[in-house]
Amino acid sequence: MRTLQSDYMHWAKFKPAVRYQLTGSEVPHFRMDSLPIAIADLDLDGASHPRYPPLREAIAGRYGVGPERVVAADGTSMANFLAMAALISPGDEVLIEQPTYELLIGVASFLGATITRFERKASDGFRLDPDQVASMLTPQTRLIVLTNLHNPSSVLAGDAELRALGELARRVGARVLIDEVYLDSAVPPRRSAVHLGPEFVCTNSLTKVYGLSGLRCGWILAEPELAERMWRLNDLFGVNQAHPAERLACIAFEHIEKVVGDNPAMLARNRERWNEFVRARDDLDCIPAEHGITTFPRWRLGDTERLDAHLRERYDTAVVPGRWFEMPDHFRVGFGLPTPEFEDALARLGAALDDVK
Ligand SMILES: Cc1ncc(COP(=O)(O)O)c(C=O)c1O
Repeated sequence: MRTLQSDYMHWAKFKPAVRYQLTGSEVPHFRMDSLPIAIADLDLDGASHPRYPPLREAIAGRYGVGPERVVAADGTSMANFLAMAALISPGDEVLIEQPTYELLIGVASFLGATITRFERKASDGFRLDPDQVASMLTPQTRLIVLTNLHNPSSVLAGDAELRALGELARRVGARVLIDEVYLDSAVPPRRSAVHLGPEFVCTNSLTKVYGLSGLRCGWILAEPELAERMWRLNDLFGVNQAHPAERLACIAFEHIEKVVGDNPAMLARNRERWNEFVRARDDLDCIPAEHGITTFPRWRLGDTERLDAHLRERYDTAVVPGRWFEMPDHFRVGFGLPTPEFEDALARLGAALDDVK
């Protein structure tokens, strides 16, 4: 049966709120009214603007590609959907990393793909291993799908591994789709894999690293012919983007340094706090956090639903149980809280871990 809903997304949107949300995977929201915006800047004349060139140029400029390689979409979510819909026909074989972001599997299933998984082993620090991919590749493989940074572990795949994947894909006429929604929080920031060759199709947005989830400004970077195919396909789904949102996204790009602000320093501090926290515990296994906004420790006592339930009940705090990433003895922790709040949340997590020992 093909997937017709995302249980993870539904849970992520409607789970009971708690005071200390270690469940998040984005930096704090950025208030757009802290930028110099006049109502006239939004051009509220009711017109829509197909493939709005200023936004394409802003994205192209920031990511070092020509605008003909940029396709706009509603968030990375729709970017992933559009990219996969343009690349997969029913019955096509698609290789997807494991663990991964649930919706990547859901979309491939919705599109009728035959899904095979390649493992990013916890015992190997969730490293992207091209040999694992090679062992699953067949002449029928049409698409290889991964996240970089990896959701949930935030492990960075380097150019050498990605090039090896590109080579594998080229051999069988496949493409590599990389969800790069966390890549701009690598330390230091890395270039999009779209620069590594025509096999690469990359998605991103102003959501996670920029705190502008509400804008729904996402995009795909792909070679021009494929980008054109995606624009044409999008006529079936959304026709054009909401124009005031496109205008706001252009303003955000004009002030991107201000939008980014202190977040890299805050994330660095929180990763450091996390690494100290884990070093002092013998009930958690976790690779040191180096990049990104999330981490994915293993709890030696088993199913982390139990830990999350206790955290919620006693400490007004929550984590993402690993079952959402097909690894129930792990859990995901987000670094996107102001540091004092993050420290309080960690103290609560520590107390909960002590209780349920
Ligand atoms: C890997 C990954 N891709 C995409 C998204 C959704 O991104 P957006 O808000 O830009 O649609 C998420 C959100 O959790 C994610 O983790």
